[in-house]
Amino acid sequence: MNYANIIGTGTYVPEKIVDNHMLSELVETSDEWIRTRTGIKERRISTGENTSDLALKASEAALENAGMSPEDLDMIILSTLTPDYFTPATACLVQRRLGAENAAAFDISAACSGFLYGLDVADSFIRAGKAKNILVVSSEVMSKVIDWEDRNTCVLFGDGAGAVVLKASAEHGIINTVTGSKGDIEGNLVSKSRNVVNPFMEIPETGDNYLSMNGKEIFKFATRIMRKALKDVLGGTGIELSEVKYIVPHQANDRMFEYVAGKMKFDKEKFYVNLERFGNTSSASIPIALDEMAKKGLLSKGDKLIFVGFGGGLTWGAALVEWQLD
Ligand code: ACO
Repeated sequence: MNYANIIGTGTYVPEKIVDNHMLSELVETSDEWIRTRTGIKERRISTGENTSDLALKASEAALENAGMSPEDLDMIILSTLTPDYFTPATACLVQRRLGAENAAAFDISAACSGFLYGLDVADSFIRAGKAKNILVVSSEVMSKVIDWEDRNTCVLFGDGAGAVVLKASAEHGIINTVTGSKGDIEGNLVSKSRNVVNPFMEIPETGDNYLSMNGKEIFKFATRIMRKALKDVLGGTGIELSEVKYIVPHQANDRMFEYVAGKMKFDKEKFYVNLERFGNTSSASIPIALDEMAKKGLLSKGDKLIFVGFGGGLTWGAALVEWQLD
C-alpha cells in the first residue's frame, strides 16, 4: 500500500510587519478591539511580492527541508484565492521557476480550505500509485483583495505561504482526509473576479472586487463545521481525539478555538495557534503553523495530528496525519 508521508515543510512570509496600532491609523479600530475579538496582534503584508513569489520561496524551503530536488516532483498542487493571473495557474509559474520539469502543476480554488483540498488530492494520487512525490503549496497575498477602508475585514488577514512535500511510503502518514462544500449563494464570504463588462451588455455590472464577509454567519458556520470535520476525519479510523497531540486549525479567530474546545470538551491547548503574529493567511495558515511546529521541535515520530479548516465556497476539510519525521 502507498501512503502519503510529509517529509518536508517550508514557509515564507513577507518582511513587512503591520501591527494593530498601524491599522488604527488607517481605519477606526484599536489594538484592544482586534486582540480581544480575534487574538491577532500583527500580520505580514507584501510590499510588492505576488502570490507566486511567496509560493516559490516556501516551496524551495520545503524541498530543501525534505532533501528533495525539484526534478523529482511528479506534481505541484497550489492553493490560493489570490492567484497572479486567471491563467496561467500560479502552480505553473512556480513549476517553471523551481525547475520542476517533470511535474504536472495546477491550482486549487477552495479559499481557506485550499491546503486541505490539496492534501486530499495529493493523498489520492499517491494512494492510487499515480504519483510518488508531490509538493502542496498554499500561498496568499490577501492584501490584494482587501478593502483597506473596511475595518470589518482589513484587520483580519495577512499574507504568506506554506508548503509540504509528500512522498509515497509504506508507513502511514496521511491516515484519513475529509472535504466538503456548501455553495455560498447567500454571499457570506465573497471576493469577486473582474466584473463582466463587454460591448454587448446593456447595463454594465458595477461594484468593487474587494473581499466582503458576513463575520457573524462565518463564525457560526466555522464553529459548527470544525466540530463536524473533526468527528468525520476520526470516524472509522479507530483513533480517538484524546490520542491526537495537536489540532492545527485554519488560523481565523482564537475565539472560535475556545468555543469548539469547550463544546467538544477538550483542552484548548490542543489547538496550535500562531495567528497573533500572522493573522488569517487563508489557505497558507495551516502549513505555516505546521512548519513552525516542526522547527520548534514540537513534533515527534508517531504523533497524531489533525489539520482542520473552513472557508469561502463555503468549503471545509480535515486531515488526520501520523507524523513520521524524527
Ligand atoms: N474595529 C472596531 N470595531 C469594529 C471592527 C474593528 N476592526 N470591525 C467591526 N467593528 C464593529 C462593527 O462595526 C460592530 O459595530 P456596531 O455594533 O456599531 O455595528 C461591532 O464592532 C461588532 O461587530 P461584530 O461583527 O458583531 O463583531 P464580532 O464580535 O462578530 O467579531 C469578527 C467580528 C471578528 C469578524 C467575527 O465575527 C469573526 O471572527 N467571524 C469569522 C470571520 C472569519 O473567520 N473569517 C475568515 C474565514 S474564511 C477565510 O479565512 C477567507
